[in-house]
Amino acid sequence: MTDGITLVVATKNTGKLIEIESLLKNYPVNLKNLSDFGPIPPVAEDGDTFDDNAYQKSAFTARVLGLPALADDSGLVVPTLGGLPGVHSARYGGDGLTDAQRCELLLQNLKGKADRRAYFSCVISIATPTGAALTYEARCEGLVAEAAVGTNGFGYDPIFYYPPLKKTFAEMTLQEKSRVSHRGNAMQELQHEFAKVLLWLQQQMPVPEKLSCQGGVVC
Ligand code: IMP
Repeated sequence: MTDGITLVVATKNTGKLIEIESLLKNYPVNLKNLSDFGPIPPVAEDGDTFDDNAYQKSAFTARVLGLPALADDSGLVVPTLGGLPGVHSARYGGDGLTDAQRCELLLQNLKGKADRRAYFSCVISIATPTGAALTYEARCEGLVAEAAVGTNGFGYDPIFYYPPLKKTFAEMTLQEKSRVSHRGNAMQELQHEFAKVLLWLQQQMPVPEKLSCQGGVVC
């Protein structure tokens, strides 16, 4: 008995949501996202690691909604820039920038650097309202391109060049990207043991108290 479990994808990032929902669409779970609920208070995302932030998001959402929640924390790590943008990927250069402006800033900051190695990192956390959680993580190695190429995807996709396919992530279809990406790989780890995860979620969920009808009969 695994169907019937609801899993909330806890992200406001449309690009991530599209990828995660597409990866989970054939699984026996009732998928919801944040727009299925009323306003939820903002979650603090102030950890020093992808791991901390993924857990902060999943545990907070699960507690507020009383439902299991899946969150992703991810970002682009460029070793020659000391690991930036890293956990600050979404805010690199300040809050007001667009994705295209952040890509441009990164290209500027890498100007003249010979070492253009980079990797995307992703941590997926699935938490229950009690705070218990499972974690999956993966990375995808590549290079920062010399210029933005391609129009698919989101974030740093136009400047992340993946040598094995000789394309940036923004030149790939959703399916191509998901086969090799940090998120796709972390989700594959989860998918390998999905049946066990559903069972675990059921065990973690509090059993609703049965209301007693007149005469002490439980109904
Ligand atoms: P988070 O919501 O703090 O995890 O922000 C992640 C940020 O990392 C996003 O806003 C993007 O800028 C970047 N990022 C994460 N995954 C990807 C990806 O698959 N493609 C492009 N950019 C990504």
